[in-house]
Amino acid sequence: MKKLVVSLKERSYFIVMDTSLGELGKYIAAAGLGKRVFIVTNAVVAKKYLSVVTAGCRRNAIAVSTVILPDGEKYKTLATVEKLYAAALKAGVDRSTCVVALGGGVVGDVAGFFAATYLRGLSCIQVPTTLLAMVDSSVGGKTGVDLPDGKNLVGSFHQPKLVWIDPATLVTLPARQLRNGMAEVIKYGVIRDTALFGRLEKMFPAGGMDISAALTSARLSRIIFDCCSIKARIVEKDEFETKGLREILNFGHTFGHAIETATQYRSYLHGEAVALGMAMAARCAMKMGILAPAAARRIQQLIERVGLPIVPVGRMLSPLIIAGLMRRDKKVKEGSVRLILPTGIGSVKAISFKSDTEIINLCSGGEA
Ligand SMILES: NC(=O)c1ccc[n+]([C@@H]2O[C@H](COP(=O)([O-])OP(=O)(O)OC[C@H]3O[C@@H](n4cnc5c(N)ncnc54)[C@H](O)[C@@H]3O)[C@@H](O)[C@H]2O)c1
Ligand SMILES: [Zn+2]
Repeated sequence: MKKLVVSLKERSYFIVMDTSLGELGKYIAAAGLGKRVFIVTNAVVAKKYLSVVTAGCRRNAIAVSTVILPDGEKYKTLATVEKLYAAALKAGVDRSTCVVALGGGVVGDVAGFFAATYLRGLSCIQVPTTLLAMVDSSVGGKTGVDLPDGKNLVGSFHQPKLVWIDPATLVTLPARQLRNGMAEVIKYGVIRDTALFGRLEKMFPAGGMDISAALTSARLSRIIFDCCSIKARIVEKDEFETKGLREILNFGHTFGHAIETATQYRSYLHGEAVALGMAMAARCAMKMGILAPAAARRIQQLIERVGLPIVPVGRMLSPLIIAGLMRRDKKVKEGSVRLILPTGIGSVKAISFKSDTEIINLCSGGEA
């Protein structure tokens, strides 16, 4: 078992990793996190992992009620949160009940938002079961749901009381979802960790490598630990994204969100869109002269070797459309589009663009 702390004064918590789902109940009991849990999960994850969590809780005299949501981002809505309120009312959830979010980022975001708002706030434990959720969405306290007009438009900061990571759950995760999470892993390498980036280059040599063979369980554990450490240190310094640090986690995301919107979330998974966004950001940075061509090439090569896309394909993804959509991103400040651009492997810089023309010119042309 490995432990990391996220230090946020009275909101501090542990990320416990390299552990098993069956042990969670014992930990909850020992840490005094609640005598009763309200487990929120989805149909896919429930089939594989709900019974082991439930049994572990009951063995430790913790009362359990569960809600199984349908699978998919399209259920990350206020309507689902309302269903959770109704289920909680029926189950007699009270302020001493702890919400357990068991699943990927969708379950984590919805259950986290439910926990943030029901009875003015309940404790929440994040139990991520996708790589993306383990390295990113379960840590940092961002919770929320989508509106028809855009993703994550309603939400709240609500730090969990505990993040419980059992990397063995990744064994059942489809390869495409593993690659999806790897996009966020590459992100951490580029924004903060040259050594992590170098290790990933060795794991995914030229010529291609099967993702499950490249990501042995020992390597995955170390990757998850490193990424959670980076995210924890950033969140500690800028919990509410007001100090200009947490925004570096958006590397690849302003482009990525525009790509997701342009393709109506149908063509690319989130990580795939972020991969495209990181490659585009690298090419822009190179054109601006702030990133060496060799570094831009390394970023794009690694993304490709992991099996993620680097050049958007399709009429809806022209630079003109992407630039227009980026202006609608919720991170636009005072009319300027702010992009996080790499200045090396391990460092990034936020740059504001007032005019779309500049972005369109930078985004035009293909791979470097
Ligand atoms: N809150 C944050 O800080 C933050 C950060 C990044 C992303 N997000 C959000 O996270 C969501 C994406 O999360 P995701 O990529 O985990 O997607 P997801 O939750 O939809 O999970 C992907 C798929 O994998 C399945 N699954 C989950 N665990 C499994 C397992 N162990 N074995 C087999 N199948 C499994 C799910 O049922 C789903 O079909 C988006 O809504 C995004 O906005 C939030
Ligand atoms: Zn992301």
